[in-house]
Amino acid sequence: MSSATQEFEHASAALAVDGWCVLADLLTPAQTLALARECRALHDGHQLTPAATGADRAQTPLRGDATRWFAPETLSAVQQPFAARLDALRLALNRALLLGLVDSESHYAVYAPGAIYARHLDQLRHSDARVLSAAFYLNHAWQDADGGALRLHLADRSHRDIYPRAGTLLLFLSAEFEHEVLPATRQRMSIACWMRQRELGARG
Ligand code: OGA
Ligand code: MN
Repeated sequence: MSSATQEFEHASAALAVDGWCVLADLLTPAQTLALARECRALHDGHQLTPAATGADRAQTPLRGDATRWFAPETLSAVQQPFAARLDALRLALNRALLLGLVDSESHYAVYAPGAIYARHLDQLRHSDARVLSAAFYLNHAWQDADGGALRLHLADRSHRDIYPRAGTLLLFLSAEFEHEVLPATRQRMSIACWMRQRELGARG
């Protein structure tokens, strides 16, 4: 078994059983801090775009974050280790679970205090490419009292609240879990990612 397969064995086992898991050590604290600084600098420099939903990309009260996609060909120096680790995780999950994940897409997201993302499913209506959703959190010293949990709705109608503490990576099957972002008292920063399969319609 390769070391990456071994390292991510716990995550793949949890995904196979529960369809979701939390991983605590994707990056070092210094790497996570560097991403947080870059995200904040981009936000302060007005380089993020208010998010939109639906076919007409209308801005909506359903979603209050602002985002900026990572450019896969020109990743910044601090984005590179993140992308490399996410790729190692993707390949390990492919080996363990035969998911056929061919690539991933990632964006920074910043939620102002009070902003939410209403309950939703990540799979886009016109596409089945998104298999696995991931959220990597960038918020130093986040307390539960700060709010801002990602609420994951489970099949038995219960839910789990995952707080956006720096270094936490949440993974879940995109097609299976409705989820929402609850309002926070602080600015809340994350990287949202989707690992994708080739679209069924595009298979030859
Ligand atoms: C999303 C999303 C969750 C988060 O962007 O689709 O659900 O915690 N984000 O940022
Ligand atoms: Mn989502």
